[in-house]
Amino acid sequence: MPLFRTKIGLIAATVGSAVGLGTVWRFPAEVQGNGGAAFLIVYIACVFLLGIPIMVSEFALGRGLRSDAVGVFRKQAPGTAWWTVGAGAVLASFLILCFYMVVGGWTLDYLMQSLDGSLFAGFRPEAGTTFADSYFTDVKDSIVCSDWEASLYTAVFVGLNIVVLLGGVQSGIERMSNIAMPLLFVILLLFCGISLALPGSLKGVEFFLTPDFSKITPTVCINALGQAMFSLSLAMGILITYASYYSNSTNLGQTAVIVSSLTLLVAIMMGLIIFPAVSAFGLEGHGVSGTTLVFVTLPEVFAALPFSSFWSALFFLLLMVAALTSTVSIAEVVICFLQERMGCSRRRAVLAVLLPLMVLASICALSFGPLKDFKIAGLIMFDALDQFTNNIMLPLVALGTSLYVGWVAPRGFLRDQVTNEGQYKPGFAKACQLILRWVAPVAIITIFLSNIL
Ligand code: PFF
Repeated sequence: MPLFRTKIGLIAATVGSAVGLGTVWRFPAEVQGNGGAAFLIVYIACVFLLGIPIMVSEFALGRGLRSDAVGVFRKQAPGTAWWTVGAGAVLASFLILCFYMVVGGWTLDYLMQSLDGSLFAGFRPEAGTTFADSYFTDVKDSIVCSDWEASLYTAVFVGLNIVVLLGGVQSGIERMSNIAMPLLFVILLLFCGISLALPGSLKGVEFFLTPDFSKITPTVCINALGQAMFSLSLAMGILITYASYYSNSTNLGQTAVIVSSLTLLVAIMMGLIIFPAVSAFGLEGHGVSGTTLVFVTLPEVFAALPFSSFWSALFFLLLMVAALTSTVSIAEVVICFLQERMGCSRRRAVLAVLLPLMVLASICALSFGPLKDFKIAGLIMFDALDQFTNNIMLPLVALGTSLYVGWVAPRGFLRDQVTNEGQYKPGFAKACQLILRWVAPVAIITIFLSNIL
């Protein structure tokens, strides 16, 4: 097994995986739809109380058994069906990749159109306002529903993944993350500063940070837990795979706390960018959910600022970096599986995963354009994939992992991994074990049932 070269590198790579579209884009939309600051509070509780222990359990499996997401179960529980938990993670990863790559393609298209200025070229503010909601809705439709453009950019985005992944763990993933993560934080800080300095931004800050506890409902809790799991990259096999590249001296508990805290920090910074800007420009009604937020509402904000194309390019660069460091991590799950299980070389494994994906994702990109009339094709390609993986596969894999590490793994396995064979105090490991046995299964079964009922 290759190992990450440095501690900073392994943290950058793992944070890079966690900070993706789920944190940068899905988080503000969830806050908006679930009562603002009330959701934030429950999300923070979910990250620390459930997210960290589940993350630690995946780290322990990966680093302790040094194998892919299926191999760890096969090694430790041979002859049982526990390997299906890992197989579920590998399958979910492949399916998630199909639609995630498409969004990566749209992002790349917006980045290019910001760089050459064409994104704002036809922009004329609506009479009496500085905005043109319909203009940017048309722009979005022309990209998302295009005949070939979305497909082409999706294929290019998959190509970028191939370049990074062919470089391997150290020279590809680690090196890219060491550059991408600091860049991401600098861009985020810059946008936070600008957004908070806008006149009228305070209302947005209040919405995001002043909790109304009466808004904490069971649905808000369930959504916050789902968001915490997605944004921390749990149950996708990513953390098992990356931890198999951690050294024996890595402190797993500390790494989980750092990765989760930095992911939370990015989510909060995104909230401090989006809500103040939206309230400063009075865009609350213009859509802060789904694709509308980043592809319609934010371009409207940029259009109202001086140097629109520059800010827009910087934002879509941020989004592209976040997406790329996540897609490489999830692709690595399947690549590592092929290398370990099938004995493929790195190059073969990368191409075997990404070339078919390039074709599949490009077809997926057409599901809003030429294929949209083929209802079945459109559904299978995008929405159904998204819902099936998020609502069914991920909760089942998380449940299997918690039950396995909490109850089935050999006695002392989690403690030995978390304390590095007794080097650290066992209190944290004991707390994680307790949560994995009781709290996590109950919480995940609740999400699962609420998703399918
Ligand atoms: N934590 C990642 C995110 O929030 O985007 C989860 C993820 C999803 C990673 C899809 C990679 C991916 F392809």
